[in-house]
Amino acid sequence: MRVLVHIEDGDAWRHALAERLPEADVITSEAPAARRREADYLAAWKPSAELLREPIRLKGIVNLGAGVDALLNNPGLPAGVPIIKLRDAGMAELIGDYVRYGVLHFQRDFDRYRRQQARRDWHEHAVVDKDDWPVGVLGLGAIGAKVAAMVAADGFAVHGWSRSPKQLPDIICHHGDEGLRELLGQVRSLVLLLPDTRATRHVINAETLARLPAGASLINPGRGTLVDEAALLDALGPGEQEGRLRGAILDAFPEEPLPEKNPLWGHPRVWVTPHMAGPTPMKEALDQVAQALRAFEAGEALDTVDPDAGY
Ligand code: GLV
Repeated sequence: MRVLVHIEDGDAWRHALAERLPEADVITSEAPAARRREADYLAAWKPSAELLREPIRLKGIVNLGAGVDALLNNPGLPAGVPIIKLRDAGMAELIGDYVRYGVLHFQRDFDRYRRQQARRDWHEHAVVDKDDWPVGVLGLGAIGAKVAAMVAADGFAVHGWSRSPKQLPDIICHHGDEGLRELLGQVRSLVLLLPDTRATRHVINAETLARLPAGASLINPGRGTLVDEAALLDALGPGEQEGRLRGAILDAFPEEPLPEKNPLWGHPRVWVTPHMAGPTPMKEALDQVAQALRAFEAGEALDTVDPDAGY
């Protein structure tokens, strides 16, 4: 089999995949077009439409990331080719650390102390107990479930939400529209780990933000399209004075890089990070890629992406 790899630092990925799959001819998108055309599999992160159209006998695509939104929205995506995505592959722990930092940031008032420091203002805020600080995690897939467990292991009361019912140890699970309303009404930090699909677009909007208790905070290491930005800015209110929403830590935006003119950059109660919460770890990812490609070749049933559901 020939595998075409496309990702930043593709040569390192090509070498490491060839070690795991000695039976395969592994090439990168730098290889000559004639060789790319005959690839059986594509393992890629955000390939161009042109590259996606090249292979003429593609049997499968492995998405080298957790979210398949960019791939499914790519106009070059060939119809009917099965897609595998990475599941956790070490990303959940990285994102879990990002979220734990974010929750502690608000629970231990680091946001307030930062603003006080600018005024040389020495005064202490009473600590709210972790079990009085419910955290909500929207999305309980491979990443969301692990992140929820990590935050619960830190001692926070964790509520999780998924479209269909789930049961997870130590997590208060909610589902469906009613469950979402229940969760929103009681969480002090809200974490977004839903996939970007037609059904999740702007799930955080004026109505859902209004359901959060006053002074809640938002942490989004998921997808930018989950949030209606105008409603977010409105809930935050301007300036340093805490609005209905106390603050937001955001790693994902509908347009990336976040445009220079976007008001979120300069907002004093917003932390912007450049989509760094969960980079794809090469080793774990390639273990999954090698396993998926062998299963494809063996004709085994694989847990493929459902393009209609969007994940
Ligand atoms: C990154 O955003 C990913 O989906 O892996």
